[in-house]
Amino acid sequence: MTRHFLDIHKTDAAELRAMIDAARAMKTARDGRPRGMPDDDQPLAGRMVALIFEKPSTRTRISFDVGVRQMGGQTMVLSGADMQLGHGETIADTARVLSRYVDLIMIRTFEEATLLEMAEHSDVPVINGLTNRTHPCQIMADVMTYEEHRGPIDGKKVVWSGDGNNVFASFAHAAGQFGFDLTFTGPETLDPEPAWFDWCAAKGHPITVERDPDAAVTGADLVVTDTWVSMHDPQSARERRHNQLRPYQVNEALMARAKPDALFMHCLPAHRDDEATSAVMDGPHSVIFDEAENRLHAQKAILRWCLGV
Ligand code: CP
Repeated sequence: MTRHFLDIHKTDAAELRAMIDAARAMKTARDGRPRGMPDDDQPLAGRMVALIFEKPSTRTRISFDVGVRQMGGQTMVLSGADMQLGHGETIADTARVLSRYVDLIMIRTFEEATLLEMAEHSDVPVINGLTNRTHPCQIMADVMTYEEHRGPIDGKKVVWSGDGNNVFASFAHAAGQFGFDLTFTGPETLDPEPAWFDWCAAKGHPITVERDPDAAVTGADLVVTDTWVSMHDPQSARERRHNQLRPYQVNEALMARAKPDALFMHCLPAHRDDEATSAVMDGPHSVIFDEAENRLHAQKAILRWCLGV
């Protein structure tokens, strides 16, 4: 059976845990060697990976590219707009054709339906590199980052402040799978999808909603935010969103409500001094660049899991 990595809530919890542990072991094994130096293990030798981007990317593009190369594989980085995919060829036909050339497909796209159709018609594993709905690779890196600094994440209080967007959705899935308590604080108009509340409740980890950010962050082990205007949001909504989300900015006063050893995360790119102040982003609680680095290690584990190597 082809092993796709489509979402955290669609992947077995024990396998997610094994991926996080494998990622940490691979990171440790590199032991500070130069980024371009191959790993001792070369499980992707002879493998070709297609990285398709229909949206901009810095971290996802580079971390997947470097990760595949460190494990001995090769990559081709493709822009959806330059492929026939961007000129009317169906997703299903694209998936069937790519399956004849490459060993794995990573795609960043707009609609979740594109990802799902790609996976349905692909004979090789497909990885979700972000859709409008979820961003699972990011949150695998975030769980890894939390545990690297503070130990097991289960039972911890994680507070999301801001827009209930696609990155929040994958945090919700991770809450159910890794067993942490997730609080959402943000305006009602930007609430997460009801489906994620239902899913988390069914998993026994219901999401708490607290409209007052000070109350929400009190006692938090981890505070997370993200951009106020996502890539798929219309720019015309910018001013309205900024007005709605300003009370949810993560600043030093808000972080002071969290536990003294709380961490701060942001998946980046950030709009400094909008959703989070530079004082927080560059302050003692922040692990934002560890998160960025751990994209590399977490995705290497995901690639290995998909390929069974
Ligand atoms: N966090 C994240 O996915 O970054 P990029 O958009 O740069 O890939």
